[in-house]
Amino acid sequence: MSSSPKPRILTGDTPTGKLHLGHYVGSVENRLALQNGYDCYFLIANKHAFTTRADKPAEIRQSVIDIATDYLAAGIDPNKATMFIQSEVPAIDELTFFFAMLVPFNRVMRNPTLKDEIRDKELGENYPFGFPLYAVGQVADILAFRPVMVPVGEDQLPHLEMTREIARRFNQLYCGVDPHTQDEDYLMAGGLFPVIEPKLGRVRRLVGIGPPGPNGELLKMSKSLNNAIFLSDDADTVKKKVMGMYTDPRRIRATDPGTVEDNPLWIFHETFNPDRNWVAQQQEAYRQGKVGDVLIKGRLVEILNALLEPIRQRRKAYESRPDDVLDVLRQGTRRANAVAEETLALAKQAMKQDYFRRTLSMS
Ligand code: TRP
Repeated sequence: MSSSPKPRILTGDTPTGKLHLGHYVGSVENRLALQNGYDCYFLIANKHAFTTRADKPAEIRQSVIDIATDYLAAGIDPNKATMFIQSEVPAIDELTFFFAMLVPFNRVMRNPTLKDEIRDKELGENYPFGFPLYAVGQVADILAFRPVMVPVGEDQLPHLEMTREIARRFNQLYCGVDPHTQDEDYLMAGGLFPVIEPKLGRVRRLVGIGPPGPNGELLKMSKSLNNAIFLSDDADTVKKKVMGMYTDPRRIRATDPGTVEDNPLWIFHETFNPDRNWVAQQQEAYRQGKVGDVLIKGRLVEILNALLEPIRQRRKAYESRPDDVLDVLRQGTRRANAVAEETLALAKQAMKQDYFRRTLSMS
């Protein structure tokens, strides 16, 4: 597998719940396109889920299965892409320990994504030691696969920046790479780890279907804000959610002029409706109070259900064969271990800690 001619990419998800439309346009869509041209590794970060939910192991286990099922249903092809479970790839943990020596503790704590999480999840001072450690763990998730590219959402960019810093440092310290080397030249200069590039999705953050926040700001779609449409929602649920969705609060009657800008209903059409002319025409009519929310919502229901229907069909097939999902993860984890073990051996060699050889076996 490691001799595959296709360039390798890696990305991952923390299993915190089912995938929704925000994930779809932010990353799933990207992965569906990339799985044909790249050797794709999709990591399920179950250890990261323990940073804030160590007391809920059963939920984490269920989320791992849910997220794998969601991806398969969405069209990730297990013959093209490799889905795997983080905690069954020990090389990642071993690299984490070594990488943790290459970054100042204060630098980790300045990571804006960690700061945001501490604020949003109200962790205060009570987060575990493993919480900041996960950021270094994510560096190891990535570098264990020496990928050419890492598709992520915007919120992950600080982790990717730290990945680039640690890759440079490792290559300079242990592979003799000159610190003045350009990022794209690190491998050519003898480095083991590429200074990776992030790749953002088509839509950076999709708005939710609920009301705006306390300052009138649009809120992103999120399970915890209860404003999400899930890939696993059935057709009726999608209809109910869309028909009840927040639009322009100042518009009482369909004959009132409506606002298109910052209106979630139109953001959804702009994101999902392939018929750009229809959207432009109806937006004009909406502005003039010539078309009501109900018609525009009705069309959105049709569009979303057309997108989700094939996903529902594939999901049904997997739900009737739950062992198949675990088998996909088993095969994927085996392939992931082959790559990560190779990376770890090379890293140990560079660090002069290659005392013995070993092989890993999985049942
Ligand atoms: N932190 C990412 C998230 O919550 C998940 C993740 C873990 C990840 N390891 C990764 C993403 C490696 C990209 C690469 O979404």
